[in-house]
Amino acid sequence: MPSYRIIGGEKLTGEVSVSGSKNAVLGILAASMMLDGPCMLENVPDIADVRAMLEICETLGAVITPLGDGIFKIDPTTINTHEATHDKVKNIRASYYLLGALLSRYKKATMHMPGGCNFGTRPIDLHLKGFAKLGAKGTGLSDIRSGIIRIVADKLVGAHIFLDVVSVGATINIMLAATKAEGLTTIENAAKEPHIVDVANFLNAMGANIKGAGTDTIRIKGVPVLPGGFSYSIIPDQIEAGTYMIAAAVTRGDVTVRNLIPKHMEPLTAKLIEMGFDVDESDDAIRVSVTDCGIITAVNFKTMPYPGFPTDLQPQATVLLCMAEGVSRMHENVWDNRFQYVTELQTMGANISIIDKVALVSGPTQLNGSLVVAMDLRAGAAMVLAGLAADGETIITEAQRIERGYEKIVEKLTALGAKMERMDDQHTVSQRPDAGSF
Ligand code: EPZ
Repeated sequence: MPSYRIIGGEKLTGEVSVSGSKNAVLGILAASMMLDGPCMLENVPDIADVRAMLEICETLGAVITPLGDGIFKIDPTTINTHEATHDKVKNIRASYYLLGALLSRYKKATMHMPGGCNFGTRPIDLHLKGFAKLGAKGTGLSDIRSGIIRIVADKLVGAHIFLDVVSVGATINIMLAATKAEGLTTIENAAKEPHIVDVANFLNAMGANIKGAGTDTIRIKGVPVLPGGFSYSIIPDQIEAGTYMIAAAVTRGDVTVRNLIPKHMEPLTAKLIEMGFDVDESDDAIRVSVTDCGIITAVNFKTMPYPGFPTDLQPQATVLLCMAEGVSRMHENVWDNRFQYVTELQTMGANISIIDKVALVSGPTQLNGSLVVAMDLRAGAAMVLAGLAADGETIITEAQRIERGYEKIVEKLTALGAKMERMDDQHTVSQRPDAGSF
């Protein structure tokens, strides 16, 4: 399994371009499986979760043709099963979108329980309740323990669905299942993340009739056919962009993050300004640099559904709080157990204590390089940021978890001046002839 080796202390400077959104393209790939014709996807990021989803789609019978430069032709007309039971399904969380897509296509769907990052329970009760409202029967919550979900519907009929918890996955999955249902479906208390809007925009480009995505009420008028036949370009990844903005901050550098949508970054931009950083926006880029005084102010974060501060930037922002003057608070309001990575930061010298769902971070602390584990995708990104800021050498193991969601992260960071390399199993540090210089 790959590891990353970082020699910290380098200020990052220059420009970095953001890739397509992981959490948009995974929903869109699943949505493409319900089309009645082919489509083209552009700006698809080359990351492990996308490769896994593409493989799963091919096991369903779809024909996927890579055209290079992040462009793919997707032909779902050759799909020949409603069962997504390939082992890959267990590797990623977003495979559960195939439930909504296959239910929409075949009025039935069978699949393994999905996988994904392990930071507390990740239920799918709201997905199943939504499908039931549309007329689906089958796997109840009790059956899930078998690890297989089976749902079937004589027909799918539009319904009024209220989500008692704001859920990205349930919002997207119900939207997929409702797209070809008879009549009107409304989803109340819907999640409003940029990737939800992107999935809705993709479906509308392919013939659907979805209004209100990005607000808390989405209205879907069922259509009998989704002809497809068009190209669609994936939006930039809000979380990748935010990770590089924070990388500039933790290294007290000066970085312009290009190919992003500034509005999507507002929750982070506001906090960086509050902490004392210079943040300059242009149409499709944001420049983050350190003000002359260089003091980083302690602040409090609360993760919330969009447009609140995204939980997927929580670990990365906590690293930055280690450098702030004073005591900061990071409230994790979305997931039950998303502070597992704190133990790794503590081995690097971070002064953090966890009380319930709040991390109290005292600073400023000079982090020291150490051997740490990427516990999950975003925790791994946080380890990279900590290694960039730390004194000395940091080795991050299980780096494949980082590569689930960050395209060419080593290349992008070294282009900004980071001293960083990717090592495979055969070249662990203990076998290296010396620490070596970059
Ligand atoms: C999506 O996960 C993202 N994953 C996650 O990003 C992200 O952390 C999360 O949304 C919140 O923004 C993908 O898009 C592939 P939720 P999802 O349903 O859909 C509860 C990353 O780093 N809930 O919005 O699984 C749930 O327990 C990943 O890219 C139910 O109670 O998240 C949580 O407390 C990690 N019942 C809250 O809702 C349900 O049926 C939000 O979860 C579903 C969710």
